[in-house]
Amino acid sequence: MANDIALLTGSIIAIFYQVHIYFWRDLPSFATPTPWFLEYKFLAICLSYLLTSISLTKTTFSPKNKKVFTSKELKMTVKKVALVTGGTGGIGSAICRSLHDEGYDVIAGYYGGGKHERAKQWQQEQGKEGYDFALAYGDISNYESCEECISGILKEFGHIDILINNAGITRDCTLKRMSASQWGEVISTNLTSIFNTTRLVVNSMLENGFGRIINISSVNAQKGQFGQVNYSAAKAGIHGFTKALAQEVAGKNITVNTVSPGYIATSMIMEVEEVIREKIKQGIPVGRFGTPEEIGRLVSFLAHEDSGFMTGADFSANGGQHMS
Ligand SMILES: NC(=O)c1ccc[n+]([C@@H]2O[C@H](COP(=O)([O-])OP(=O)(O)OC[C@H]3O[C@@H](n4cnc5c(N)ncnc54)[C@H](OP(=O)(O)O)[C@@H]3O)[C@@H](O)[C@H]2O)c1
Repeated sequence: MANDIALLTGSIIAIFYQVHIYFWRDLPSFATPTPWFLEYKFLAICLSYLLTSISLTKTTFSPKNKKVFTSKELKMTVKKVALVTGGTGGIGSAICRSLHDEGYDVIAGYYGGGKHERAKQWQQEQGKEGYDFALAYGDISNYESCEECISGILKEFGHIDILINNAGITRDCTLKRMSASQWGEVISTNLTSIFNTTRLVVNSMLENGFGRIINISSVNAQKGQFGQVNYSAAKAGIHGFTKALAQEVAGKNITVNTVSPGYIATSMIMEVEEVIREKIKQGIPVGRFGTPEEIGRLVSFLAHEDSGFMTGADFSANGGQHMS
């Protein structure tokens, strides 16, 4: 308000001065004889310049006017923050690196049953290769643990713009032998976890008017897999979650998608008996396992600000093993 008054006063004086030049050139000075610095015209010019510059300076730099740069403009300039659950694992590491290459601040979630040293060692190794990752500890199958983890991140970083729900486990066994805990662990780590993390992040995304949520499912959700009723059910549940949430948040520039990797050469797969592994490989038309980097690239493509038209979709990366 004060700025507007100063600007208005400056303008009135300037206009008055112009009118004066045209119609009252011989208007008497304040005093006779008048020194040049007390000349009416000179004072009018100085005053109008002074008030105009005060006004412009205040408009540009006053803290009040910083509000002009909040919301949309700020979103363009502030670095985006990505949280990758299971970020220190095989596929997770590649996702973290790919997002880091895109210029995001990346936080790698880890659990390790409370063993922090392994994650710290991973962080140091990544650092040696030029990757500066933050770490966040939490058990994604437990809501309270996620709450603690995510509120800590929000306190430190202020926002989470990209959420990659990547952490997951297997407890393979045919149904006739499967225990309730083998079922429960897989459902809570691979499916309930998606609710836990996303529920805790989605409101801040809605407030910010931007978000990218990418859930890592599996080819075995699409086609089912012998010995994996728990895993296939949990990973298939992710598809339903993705499609429903995508509809709820689409109007706020938040996309929700699923990436379904086929067999990727991480420890999860390399631990499978070699004979079985070879048999699996023979069923993949491209003749090889995928690499974690191939999944990382797909994830960062979907996480990009320009990928806003893809939502509620499932993206396969399986070497042609399953085409739906
Ligand atoms: N590899 C494949 O061929 C393949 C194929 C299709 C889908 N996938 C999916 O891709 C994702 C990554 O798999 P990956 O191959 O990279 O396996 P991985 O190396 O074993 O990574 C799994 C990650 O999940 C984290 N995790 C497990 N339980 C957790 C919990 N309760 N709380 C927090 N984090 C937990 C682990 O963290 P800690 O070690 O710190 O506990 C680990 O970093 C999984 O969802 C998997 O199902 C993998």
